[in-house]
Amino acid sequence: MDNFSFHNPTRLHFGRGQAAQITQEIPVGARVLLTYGGGSIRKNGAYDQVMAALTGRHVVEFGGIEPNPEYETLLRAVALGRSEQVDWVLAVGGGSVFDGSKFIAAAIVLDPAIDPWQIIGNRTPLASALPLGGVLTLPATGSESNFAAVVTRRATQDKLSFKNPLVFPRFSVLDPAMTMTLPPRQIGNGVVDAFVHTVEQYLTVPNEARVQDRLAEGILQTLLEIGPRTLAQPDDYEARANMMWAANQALFGLVALGQVQDWATHAIGHELTALYGLDHAQTLAVTLPWLLTYRKTDKLAKLAQYGRRLWQLPGDDAAVAAVAIDRTIAFFETMGVPTRLSAYGIDALAAAEAVAGQLRRHGRNRLGEGGRLTPEDCAAIVRMAL
Ligand code: NZQ
Ligand code: ZN
Repeated sequence: MDNFSFHNPTRLHFGRGQAAQITQEIPVGARVLLTYGGGSIRKNGAYDQVMAALTGRHVVEFGGIEPNPEYETLLRAVALGRSEQVDWVLAVGGGSVFDGSKFIAAAIVLDPAIDPWQIIGNRTPLASALPLGGVLTLPATGSESNFAAVVTRRATQDKLSFKNPLVFPRFSVLDPAMTMTLPPRQIGNGVVDAFVHTVEQYLTVPNEARVQDRLAEGILQTLLEIGPRTLAQPDDYEARANMMWAANQALFGLVALGQVQDWATHAIGHELTALYGLDHAQTLAVTLPWLLTYRKTDKLAKLAQYGRRLWQLPGDDAAVAAVAIDRTIAFFETMGVPTRLSAYGIDALAAAEAVAGQLRRHGRNRLGEGGRLTPEDCAAIVRMAL
């Protein structure tokens, strides 16, 4: 097990009606920038509960943060926040609203002489950020209690991230009842994203991190159990609750501790979204199976562990690994998330070249555990998604 230091400062309020806790979290008299997406918060109960909890605070609303939040949109929120002199940001929505709000919280207090795009890729140090809180309505990304954010600049086809402990949410509300309005596509996306987060931190090489391995396997097992149940029974609160907690724990930070991590599937996926506009989880489902296949020799020991513990597969390592990948593909398909680019009408051969070009342009020349995947390797993986 490798050395690690761990601190996660986000207070989580989990369960029905927990948006009421916002009253304790954000002081009376605060000037709050309330950020949200395209309007789902008015249908899932979040807006009304949040506004009730914010009584006595000055609320400035900024809606319209799109999936894969766009830089230009976020700059408009920054301008509004500055002119209204807000001193808190409250994100209400999915990962896109949380990520966008992390950028907003950092950019509002950035020295106006600095180009805010420098925040992306951590190219300028941050001295401070406004305090950020959130209400999660889509379990998937883990953004509600981590310090990462992904922002898209559509004109230049850049989908890039930044990380900074200053943008950890101070608190997040996780109320599974607010997820009942999710369409099947977003349930499938959420389960696949959480699954792939766990795999990226676990399915690399054995590293004697036994607790972390079993935590990862517990999260994956839970997703296998409750994923189809959540799709089939939209009003099943316990399924929603377990999905919400599994997705949170997948990227809370614990699974990665002391482990060798991968993250090449996400790097390829971000380029596929930048190029073709696919949902984040759709890009993961068309990449992970082929990446695991491409690297099955490097990952053999962990693939065999995954196949035996998750799928109870018999046989030697190679046979178990091959069937485990097939089962993973079948699971993603069961969740309604296709595993081939042809399902989206995308030519894999052209996509492979385009992804390799984007990775080179973004300086992502050595990906995955051991830094062994070049852009050419990534192109080979994308070609397998034919
Ligand atoms: O915009 P609204 O109207 O709110 O609708 C959203 C959106 O259309 C809808 N939705 C959310 N909650 C709902 C709901 N619809 C009905 N009922 C509800 N309760 O769902 C749609 C998708 O929302 P979005 O926030 O885009 O999805 P997700 O949570 O999957 O976030 C994806 C973004 O997060 C980034 C991705 O790259 C992508 O940009 N990620 C962030 C990470 C992080 N910060 O650590 C890690 C991830 O790997 C990921 O990269
Ligand atoms: Zn993800």
